[in-house]
Amino acid sequence: MKYLSILGSTGSIGRQTLEVVSQFPERFKVLGLGAGKNVSLLKEQILTFKPKWVCMLDKERAEGLKKILPKGIKTEILYGEEGYVELATRPEVSLVVSAMLGISGLKPTLAAIKAEKTVALANKEALVTGGNLIKKAIKREDQLLPVDSEHSAIFQLLSGRRKEEVKHIILTASGGPFWERKVDLSRITPQEAIQHPRWSMGAKISVDSATLMNKGLEVIEAMWLFDLGLERIKILIHPQSLVHSLVEFKDGTIFAHLSQPDMKLPIAFALNYPERLELSLPPLNLWEHNLSFFPPDFERFPCLKLALKAAKIGGSMPVVLNAANEVAVESFLGGKIGFTDIPRLIEAVMQIHKPIKDLDLETIFAIDNWARKETMSLIETGGNNND
Ligand SMILES: NC(=O)c1ccc[n+]([C@@H]2O[C@H](COP(=O)([O-])OP(=O)(O)OC[C@H]3O[C@@H](n4cnc5c(N)ncnc54)[C@H](OP(=O)(O)O)[C@@H]3O)[C@@H](O)[C@H]2O)c1
Repeated sequence: MKYLSILGSTGSIGRQTLEVVSQFPERFKVLGLGAGKNVSLLKEQILTFKPKWVCMLDKERAEGLKKILPKGIKTEILYGEEGYVELATRPEVSLVVSAMLGISGLKPTLAAIKAEKTVALANKEALVTGGNLIKKAIKREDQLLPVDSEHSAIFQLLSGRRKEEVKHIILTASGGPFWERKVDLSRITPQEAIQHPRWSMGAKISVDSATLMNKGLEVIEAMWLFDLGLERIKILIHPQSLVHSLVEFKDGTIFAHLSQPDMKLPIAFALNYPERLELSLPPLNLWEHNLSFFPPDFERFPCLKLALKAAKIGGSMPVVLNAANEVAVESFLGGKIGFTDIPRLIEAVMQIHKPIKDLDLETIFAIDNWARKETMSLIETGGNNND
């Protein structure tokens, strides 16, 4: 039996993790659930999974949850940053699913690793911003298991291989909703941007997929996860999202990982690692699909170029990239800026940042805070607008 804390339980990954848990009650028991603002869904999850502890974003929501829970429910209700860290580190927990949004996942993920828990990591922003700290804290080879489908694919393809045999890893990208639709990107609405052609995901990662920032963040995530330099990571656009990634070995052989585009697969793989679970997904009939591949388009999707630049500079630059992106995407979703303002803002903030090499947690959050303020101020003063 694995004893789970699921951080981000009310989100897309969190809900799909709970679906896997429901299918295999003899293998997984939920002890902790961490939500953000969604009080009513967390209530439902408490009634279904009967966790020992839950955590909400703030005291007000925790109080609100207490009021709507039926009498007799013994679940302890925590709130805020310390609450998430509690859920990630309590002694009874053996596996933490890290699926909160953005940099909010960094502290609990790092705390879980330091407490020697196994972490199933969906929250790529934790590695993008605090990769150096997480890597330093890892004590076992199988302590950090990727949930991102591309990284799960590469993790599986590299299993039993020596790093020296690997020439490149190749991350596939669907290209998002605008790869094939040659529309004027400056006119894209939030509604259009979150309509991902293959995956059903949270709003932020859907916009990141549309700008291709998601792939850039994934390159940085892969650098930390697989300990590879930027020059050994390639990107390949593959609109059908059936090949989840590839590994090219030094003799020129390329191994590919294929499956249905369903996040329950990499989630279940990480939850039950090293054994595979029998998931009841429809078969992948390859004769029904035409697979196509394209090189990335850095001009039309400048976020990708910015992310690779941040990866190359390293140190604090990925923290700045991530913070500016989080603020810009939220502003875009809130209708304050246009789609093509997202890369403009990120580039402007990156340009004024002087990167720092040695990062501790305090410095990471200070830089994150600085970059957020700079991005906000550019938005408020209209400084992002090149027209
Ligand atoms: N969705 C996918 O298919 C997918 C695939 C690969 C990787 N990922 C990664 O997994 C992570 C989660 O993505 P998602 O699509 O599941 O996002 P999502 O649907 O937006 O869910 C995010 C979760 O985090 C919670 N949350 C948001 N802000 C928070 C904060 N400040 N403090 C604490 N909790 C907070 C949300 O709570 P409330 O909803 O209760 O407010 C929700 O439970 C992201 O890092 C994403 O890049 C997602």
